[in-house]
Amino acid sequence: MPLSFEFTARKLVYGGEALGHYQGRVVLVPRALPGERLEVEEALTAKGVIHARPLRILEAAPERVEPPCPYFGRCGGCQYQHLRPELQSAAKRETLRETLRRIGHIGTATWDAEIPVHAAHPWNYRNQAQLKVALQPDGKVRLGFFEAESHRLVPIDACLILSPRLNAILADVRGADWSKRLAGVAPFSEIELLADDRDEEVSITLRGSFDRARAFDDQGWSGLAEECLRLLPGVTSVAIERGRAFRVFGKPALSYAVGDFRYQVSHGSFFQVSRFLLPELVTAATSGGVDAAPANRDALALDLFAGVGLFTLPLARGFGQVIAVESNPRSAADLAANAQAHG
Ligand SMILES: C[S@@+](CC[C@H](N)C(=O)[O-])C[C@H]1O[C@@H](n2cnc3c(N)ncnc32)[C@H](O)[C@@H]1O
Repeated sequence: MPLSFEFTARKLVYGGEALGHYQGRVVLVPRALPGERLEVEEALTAKGVIHARPLRILEAAPERVEPPCPYFGRCGGCQYQHLRPELQSAAKRETLRETLRRIGHIGTATWDAEIPVHAAHPWNYRNQAQLKVALQPDGKVRLGFFEAESHRLVPIDACLILSPRLNAILADVRGADWSKRLAGVAPFSEIELLADDRDEEVSITLRGSFDRARAFDDQGWSGLAEECLRLLPGVTSVAIERGRAFRVFGKPALSYAVGDFRYQVSHGSFFQVSRFLLPELVTAATSGGVDAAPANRDALALDLFAGVGLFTLPLARGFGQVIAVESNPRSAADLAANAQAHG
């Protein structure tokens, strides 16, 4: 029988769990807040750390709210919905400060600057999603996200943090027609969606565990890609991904505008997820260097881990030379194209 015990949450740690102690051992509990007392049950002990699940709240923190999403707690996507939105950013700031101290050995003695918090509307903010797809024994397809640290699917109707366009596509794909289409090309595992800055155009990447004997241009898959283009609202580019290869239908890539710049984002390239905060993120990351222009005209900027060049292009305005380093060949190709397009 699993061990159950009373737990007092001391602080939040990276990943959103609350840390406390039981009989001298570290305990981590999801969906608990600092100061709260809970009855918890041991789920797993690894490397001496007890991972426990909450059974009952004995004393709730005043910061606790009812999570608005009905899937919260089962779906692995969100970790903080039980905390008032305006306090979530502050909690993450403390986690960052602690990570800098613990892993980077950067304590307040060496660096005591304020860590500014940039927050935006807490819902519908994601421009991308990786929907998991599971074929049921009855031949129907279920769509959703995985439970935390598991490959068990939580079927979902709608997601509060996805953009309206992505929720509209999710609503369509959940329908019986699409279930049949997706089941037709099983084994199918994932649909990745990326919406542009206006939440109008969407690129879709289809993934499955392909049978090596089947051709990459298998009729079923290409038919499905064509149907996504034809039937799903706003979808302008669809790729079938197999290993490192992509077969693309429709437009070759998505075009995403941030501030004065427009970025080509191909299937398989990294792009930031937070649609409302993107312009602020770019300004925060590149200001200093860019604002100091023209003093930096002789200076060199390094954009390491550059992706498609989100920071590279604004940095090029302020610095005489920018060296951007990116290891993913698809992102690197976008980066080169984006740099060229902006002169
Ligand atoms: C989190 S993304 C950030 C990209 C970009 N700075 C942005 O904000 O859009 C990190 C990028 O680093 C790249 N990357 C990962 N390991 C790398 C390495 N060892 N050398 C160069 N690039 C790497 C990844 O392919 C990815 O595009």
